[in-house]
Amino acid sequence: NASSSTFRRRTLLKVIVLGDSGVGKTSLMNQYVYNRFTQQYKATIGADFVTRELQIDDKLVTLQIWDTAGQERFQSLGAAFYRGADCCVMVYDVNVSKSFESLNNWHAEFLKQADPADSDTFPFILLGNKVDVDGGHSRVVSEKRAREWCASKRNLPYFETSAKENINVEEAFLCVAQIALSSD
Ligand code: GTP
Ligand code: MG
Repeated sequence: NASSSTFRRRTLLKVIVLGDSGVGKTSLMNQYVYNRFTQQYKATIGADFVTRELQIDDKLVTLQIWDTAGQERFQSLGAAFYRGADCCVMVYDVNVSKSFESLNNWHAEFLKQADPADSDTFPFILLGNKVDVDGGHSRVVSEKRAREWCASKRNLPYFETSAKENINVEEAFLCVAQIALSSD
């Protein structure tokens, strides 16, 4: 491939997407990689990945994005696939309190299972999804509360997203690639 010679570095980054069932993990990935959204809910079983390439400065980066199951009974693959992750994307639904309260658990569980070299500096990012619902009127977790939680976790980056309306999806995954790259 002739054009790839213009890039000085090619990098594969493994990204894990976590969060409660129904928050929109699969939908965010489908919007980012295929520009598609469906209203229909189909629970993810186990884990699978999709990839998308992007250019950052003179680097060609391939994001390998692992979608995981939020439903406990489908989390059967165990944690083998967390290993070697370069970034963890945590997702909650701004309209569902429980999905925000679960974040501490997802965060701790990821660190325990992925066991990164330096758990203090491992790159996480938080997405508050479904900001489009009911024009924001059914929202129960404020942006302020979310940002405070991020501050308490070593200032991790935060984006408010909508997989349905394609709000901040591109920006969020660009940030994923940037923080994953800078820590590698
Ligand atoms: P699990 O696979 O069970 O862990 O769920 P998930 O986190 O992958 O959720 P999924 O992407 O399947 O989305 C769940 C439901 O929410 C689906 O009906 C989606 O259409 C809907 N949904 C996802 N993102 C959005 C969004 O940004 N806005 C709106 N209005 N609906 C969304
Ligand atoms: Mg899913």
